[in-house]
Amino acid sequence: MAESGTNWARASGSLVIVLLLVGLVGSQLLASEEQPQLLGRRSLQESVRRFLAVNDIYVLNSTYDVNTTSVTVVGTAIGPNASVTGYWSTRGRQILDFYGKEVFFSGVSWNGLENIDGAPHGLWARSWQSMLDQMIGLGLNVLRLPFSGSILAGGYMPQNINYYANPDLRNLTSLQIMDVIVRGAGARGMKVFLDYHRLNAGYEHEWGLWYDANTSETQWINNWLFLVDRYNNDSTVVGVDLFNEPHHDEAKPPGHLGPEWAPDGVNATINWRTSAIRCANAIHKVNPNLLIAVQGLDLYRGQYGLWGGVFLGQLDAPLNLTVPNKLIFQTHDLGPSTFNQSYYNAPDFPSNLPAQWDRMWGFLWDRNITPVWVGEFGAKFDPYCTSDRCAVVFRQEQLWLGELVRYIQNKSLPWTWWSWDPTSEDTGGLLADDMQTLRADKYAYIQNLTYPGFSIRNASTSLPTGIRTTGA
Ligand SMILES: *[C@@H]1O[C@H](CO)[C@@H](O)[C@H](O)[C@H]1NC(C)=O
Ligand SMILES: *[C@@H]1O[C@H](CO)[C@@H](O)[C@H](O)[C@H]1NC(C)=O
Ligand SMILES: *[C@@H]1O[C@H](CO)[C@@H](O)[C@H](O)[C@H]1NC(C)=O
Ligand SMILES: *[C@@H]1O[C@H](CO)[C@@H](O)[C@H](O)[C@H]1NC(C)=O
Ligand SMILES: *[C@@H]1O[C@H](CO)[C@@H](O)[C@H](O)[C@H]1NC(C)=O
Ligand SMILES: *[C@@H]1O[C@H](CO)[C@@H](O)[C@H](O)[C@H]1NC(C)=O
Ligand SMILES: *[C@@H]1O[C@H](CO)[C@@H](O)[C@H](O)[C@H]1NC(C)=O
Ligand SMILES: *[C@@H]1O[C@H](CO)[C@@H](O)[C@H](O)[C@H]1NC(C)=O
Ligand SMILES: *[C@@H]1O[C@H](CO)[C@@H](O)[C@H](O)[C@H]1NC(C)=O
Ligand SMILES: *[C@@H]1O[C@H](CO)[C@@H](O)[C@H](O)[C@H]1NC(C)=O
Ligand SMILES: *[C@@H]1O[C@H](CO)[C@@H](O)[C@H](O)[C@H]1NC(C)=O
Ligand SMILES: *[C@@H]1O[C@H](CO)[C@@H](O)[C@H](O)[C@H]1NC(C)=O
Repeated sequence: MAESGTNWARASGSLVIVLLLVGLVGSQLLASEEQPQLLGRRSLQESVRRFLAVNDIYVLNSTYDVNTTSVTVVGTAIGPNASVTGYWSTRGRQILDFYGKEVFFSGVSWNGLENIDGAPHGLWARSWQSMLDQMIGLGLNVLRLPFSGSILAGGYMPQNINYYANPDLRNLTSLQIMDVIVRGAGARGMKVFLDYHRLNAGYEHEWGLWYDANTSETQWINNWLFLVDRYNNDSTVVGVDLFNEPHHDEAKPPGHLGPEWAPDGVNATINWRTSAIRCANAIHKVNPNLLIAVQGLDLYRGQYGLWGGVFLGQLDAPLNLTVPNKLIFQTHDLGPSTFNQSYYNAPDFPSNLPAQWDRMWGFLWDRNITPVWVGEFGAKFDPYCTSDRCAVVFRQEQLWLGELVRYIQNKSLPWTWWSWDPTSEDTGGLLADDMQTLRADKYAYIQNLTYPGFSIRNASTSLPTGIRTTGA
């Protein structure tokens, strides 16, 4: 740390802040020097101003004497709460917190804001506060929050909220409800990833690309800039999930081409890779601290996979961002109740699954390319199952989930379960239909997979041994 003089001369502010904090709280921050991009390429004063603005600073009790060449700390510091403060970065396949400590996260998607209801689901039954309390109590410390572009237009009002249970949401627009949920999650020590789930509210509008006849690609990017600016002062929103499940859907509109993962300048209008880069780089101009999650495709050069889960293109045309150490890839793996795949019916199922995951996205982790976040996985475990076919799917789903849980645990991957509430038709929820009761049969699979405090636990006590399912 003593080399700070040279760093000060070289940096445009960010290192100064990092070194300043080293001075304040000592060895806890030593690793931070490896993250000079943390505060971006801003002027020194701007960096300090921003740093003081984010909620990370609430743990510091100091005043600052700032000028354009140096920062002087006056006063004393209260140690930061490393588990909840600050933005995150990456190093190879690792995610690091503001202080350079490796982060593991376990969370859940709470759907509804992307629906025509324009509000997280279940608020007709209980308060939003009790929902978030229950999540964090279960070890779910990241909230993936799906929304549609529709709620960004001024005045989109939510439906199906019980205002007796949620009096503080009365008369709020959907966007203002998003503000409340983000603030509430932050207050509970959770982090949030905003998930641009679809262009327009309601499932029927999903057609697989990040633009349509009414929303241009530029509008999609501008919508992101609007949102990112809105939460720019709050590191609760630690990242963005650029677009959900780009995929092929030849039916909408008839004959349209699905997304490709192609080199620069190739297939320009359907090139998810270059569009994601454009969007991410624009977002980073507003807030260079955010993690950018990019999902895979459903199909690459004739090879099919689950929506969001095909990353083979990265081997041919790597996707890189201008701001380094901010990219994470997000894969989805929904089970037999959502998509029937031939390999669920193979004789060596479920032990054939890891090789499939390795090939489609696990290699990103194996080769230390980027972190891989299992952004959606979830089982239906249909409580109303009576038919023979449904019993087959039920059993397959148990085997699939057991195998996936072991796979996630073996690599200590970050994950978010899909979904919190039971209204998602494909998977149901972690909550039962009453919107209150935990589906213990589902939670049993992920309980030992959680990372409380964003830390990995004592591995010897966390192996989900009871879950290894070795056949019927
Ligand atoms: C912060 O410092 C001020 C002035 O020294 C002191 O009065 C106050 O109690 C401190 N706050 C905390 C939370 O320590
Ligand atoms: C900036 O602050 C440093 C440290 O307090 C001081 O030595 C220096 O004179 C200041 N420069 C200006 C231009 O105020
Ligand atoms: C607020 O909502 C209530 C019903 O929830 C409605 O009666 C009232 O008109 C609304 N007020 C405004 C200013 O929109
Ligand atoms: C840090 O924040 C977490 C989450 O809010 C909390 O559980 C923990 O007690 C805090 N640690 C300290 C030292 O305040
Ligand atoms: C675009 O908007 C028009 C008018 O609201 C609507 O009829 C049409 O379905 C929309 N197209 C898409 C792709 O959403
Ligand atoms: C961010 O700014 C908004 C609007 O100024 C304010 O309500 C909110 O409390 C701020 N959040 C933080 C964490 O500073
Ligand atoms: C361009 O798109 C077409 C149609 O989707 C596809 O067949 C072709 O392989 C793509 N080219 C490249 C280089 O990705
Ligand atoms: C882009 O990413 C790939 C894979 O992560 C890496 O090998 C390559 O060096 C990167 N290229 C640039 C220009 O950063
Ligand atoms: C899934 O598809 C396979 C063919 O690939 C078929 O044999 C099997 O019956 C299907 N499973 C269900 C539950 O429909
Ligand atoms: C964990 O992964 C390694 C390779 O990374 C593999 O050799 C091993 O079999 C896996 N263990 C389990 C229990 O899946
Ligand atoms: C892990 O748990 C075992 C058994 O409870 C205990 O003996 C060991 O000390 C723990 N290790 C760590 C690093 O906490
Ligand atoms: C989870 O871990 C606890 C503590 O080690 C263990 O008792 C329990 O059996 C595990 N749960 C499952 C489903 O494996």
